[in-house]
Amino acid sequence: TADKISTLLLFGATGDLAHRMLLPSLYGLHADGLLPENFRVVCTARSELDDGQFRASAVDALKQYVPHNFYDPRTALVFSRRLTYVALDATNTEGFKALASKVDPKDGLAIFLSTAPSLFKPTIDGLDSAGLTGPRVRLALEKPLGSDLSSSREINDAVAAAFPEQRTFRIDHYLGKETVQNLLALRFANSTFEPLWNSAHIDHVQITVAETVGLEDRGGYYDSAGALRDMVQNHMLQLVALVAMEPPADFDATSVRDEKVKVFRSLRPIRSDDVADHVVTGQYGSGAVGGEPVKGYVEELGKESATETFVALKAHVDNWRWAGVPFYLRTGKRMADRKTEIYIQFKCVPHSIFAARGARTQPNKLIISIQPEENIRLLVMAKTPGLDREGIRLREVPLDVGMANAFADARRRIAYERLLLDLMDGDPTLFVRRDEVEAQWQWIDQVRAAWTESGLTPKPYGAGSWGPSAAIALTERDGVHWHD
Ligand code: BG6
Repeated sequence: TADKISTLLLFGATGDLAHRMLLPSLYGLHADGLLPENFRVVCTARSELDDGQFRASAVDALKQYVPHNFYDPRTALVFSRRLTYVALDATNTEGFKALASKVDPKDGLAIFLSTAPSLFKPTIDGLDSAGLTGPRVRLALEKPLGSDLSSSREINDAVAAAFPEQRTFRIDHYLGKETVQNLLALRFANSTFEPLWNSAHIDHVQITVAETVGLEDRGGYYDSAGALRDMVQNHMLQLVALVAMEPPADFDATSVRDEKVKVFRSLRPIRSDDVADHVVTGQYGSGAVGGEPVKGYVEELGKESATETFVALKAHVDNWRWAGVPFYLRTGKRMADRKTEIYIQFKCVPHSIFAARGARTQPNKLIISIQPEENIRLLVMAKTPGLDREGIRLREVPLDVGMANAFADARRRIAYERLLLDLMDGDPTLFVRRDEVEAQWQWIDQVRAAWTESGLTPKPYGAGSWGPSAAIALTERDGVHWHD
């Protein structure tokens, strides 16, 4: 159809994201027969390579990063023939003319910028000057979309000068994850949870994104960003929005994103007086992860640094639905385990009929595990089997929906497969709209300003732990335990 695109133009094609995620995702779409017959991927980067050399390096990347049970050398070879390569220096407009001779924007073109953000503007200018921004061209951008509100506005302005919002696809790869989308299905395709999904029934929400990796050779970027900007501004706030949003009128880009942006605008600013009770930052020292000794952050980075590799926050969504319900967020590198999870604790029963006989009831909990496992568990109280004379003994048991078992025949996809397909189909529902990203930055900027003003510095934590002890105190003060 007129909306379909025939070419993907990939900037930053020799980079880490291309190797680890984008090429394997395109391979997945190819292997599943989801790419049109004549679909081509024009890859660019600075290195001088010919098509053959680039294809060989792409196949090497596929061998390494496509899951082994899904990798097929023949398919990889056939896929690699869709790839062509153009060496290009994005800061030199001349190069774009050569590029324009290889792609025809009238056939439908998706452009993916997987480069340093400092190259976004020169690249867009180059594309514009070479006539590569017409009505059948879409632009996708990878994070970081700025380092604060004003730099994010600069990027958004540069993009808007050449691409209208409907053709701009800002990526937050968390939105491409199956379990993240499943959160919408859980909430809005079931009638059980939504009546309880509010401050009358929910005590608090915890969102954890714990990683075991450290700097992964991206010290330059990471040290200038830190955990708050690297993870909270985008991925974690998107999770907050999906948990907290009102039911959209429709599952379309406008309705869904209208509701999400309302959540970002409802986030209560954290002021400097609030920092002590609402924010903890940390930086990992040496330790052991998965039994392996690892270096501390400063040693790994090779220079002194006060960048946080861990942050825990107590946030509030100030609206009718969520008044008084804390959202505890934490994320960190080099933590005890890799785990992304949303944990929703309901209120206790209003009166326990079992208390007089010594049995304790625990509040119900809904645990949505995003990775490494994908599952949804509802913890409920049940009677422990037995003939106890003293009364009844209660125990918490899970009602479990293991997604891997429920959908055993489904291949676990890379988040970018969904996003690349939606980009090609022109569906921006799972991409971040300008007002969303700016509202996210606005809140994050306030948090950073408040912590600078209050003199907050990262507390040390051992690699392989759950973060600094102050993060535990953050919730314990409210009588809440992190779910580990
Ligand atoms: C990226 C961050 O956006 O997300 C990385 O820049 C982080 O620091 C990564 O490791 C986590 O993604 P995932 O999909 O592994 O949870």
